[in-house]
Amino acid sequence: MVATMKKLIVLIALLLSACANQFHTESVYQSMGGYQKVEEVVNNYIVEIEKDHVIFEYFKESDVERFRAKLTEHICFHTGGPCEYTGDDMERVHDGMNMTESDFNRSVDLLINAMDQADIPHRTRNRVLAIFAPMRKEMIYRP
Ligand code: HEM
Repeated sequence: MVATMKKLIVLIALLLSACANQFHTESVYQSMGGYQKVEEVVNNYIVEIEKDHVIFEYFKESDVERFRAKLTEHICFHTGGPCEYTGDDMERVHDGMNMTESDFNRSVDLLINAMDQADIPHRTRNRVLAIFAPMRKEMIYRP
């Protein structure tokens, strides 16, 4: 009887954890691996930007340490982490850069590289991209 109850409890626990996975009760931030992983992704992303002559052109006058700090907060906050975003408004920051759609896509590729290098699982990576993709309309230049 006790053995059967134990088996039942284990089965229920397994079912609950399967459901939790299915419905993403874990935040994207948690699936990424928390703050350290967000920092790792941002650091990798900055190296990727520095290596890419097209995207680096946008950043050549920027304060890289401010960008590192604000982007880390931004990703942490938007993926459900315990951070506050203290940077500027996205539209205001990117306004005037005359960013093209193809450059936006190019920088998404750099972010994908950054997440791959940090061993972020593909499913989590796609969840991160799904959060940031809708922001493109605030950034791309429309004459
Ligand atoms: C969804 C996509 C993006 C997000 C979430 C994002 C986020 C951010 C954040 C949080 C900052 C810091 C704001 C601050 O300093 O207060 C920033 C700055 C910046 N972003 Fe983006 N960004 C995105 C796409 C892009 C793209 C595609 C480019 C260019 C190709 C770009 C170029 C820049 C530059 C140059 C700065 C620094 C501005 C400065 O020095 O004042 N961003 N971005």
